Amino acid sequence: MVRDILAALPTGRALDAACGTGRHAAFLAAGGHTVLGVDSSPDMLAYARRNAPEAEFVEGDLRDLPVPDASVDLVTCALALTHLPALAPAFAEFARVLRPGGHLVTSDIHWQSLYLGGIASAVDAHGVESRLPASRFRPSAYVTAAVGAGFAVRACHEPLWPHSETGGGPFLRKWAADAVDAAYEHTPAALVWHFERL
Ligand SMILES: C[S@@+](CC[C@H](N)C(=O)[O-])C[C@H]1O[C@@H](n2cnc3c(N)ncnc32)[C@H](O)[C@@H]1O
Repeated sequence: MVRDILAALPTGRALDAACGTGRHAAFLAAGGHTVLGVDSSPDMLAYARRNAPEAEFVEGDLRDLPVPDASVDLVTCALALTHLPALAPAFAEFARVLRPGGHLVTSDIHWQSLYLGGIASAVDAHGVESRLPASRFRPSAYVTAAVGAGFAVRACHEPLWPHSETGGGPFLRKWAADAVDAAYEHTPAALVWHFERL
């Protein structure tokens, strides 16, 4: 869904904010954009440089982007905003770096799926697994942050989980398949936004 939105936008200077392994950066570069990826994790940036050698990658924070004012035509931020305690600082930065008329495409796991346990975990250097921060931002929180920063809403999508053998994860399905199906039926998996900088 994110790729469909990105592919329909004019090519230009694109920022993949919280780029991770650079999957969207690679897609944008292949589509003819000049791409900058920013992430706070040097390890992720090392993957991204291998995955998208055409793009440039810089270490930085979503709330203090190492990017000049009004210097990009497109920002995408995928599966990262829920790790922040508040949306407004990141949206202020997206608004700052985008030129007027530029586009912002965000995606996150849907807050309803966070309630069902869809929270990422990571293993630290000592082998200890812990859950990552996961704020439950509702659509109203995105609209408030985006409109407050100077964006207009172009589109909002809430794609549902597919009804499949893997809904709820293989482990839960093994023990309580009917309950998992009932919990995930008609439940949105993601929240995808397309905003325009006014
Ligand atoms: C689940 S990954 C998503 C990566 C990529 N956008 C994608 O969709 O494949 C979340 C990424 O956000 C990055 N991240 C988390 N908090 C951040 C912050 N405050 N500033 C910059 N990057 C951040 C993490 O390092 C990680 O690479």
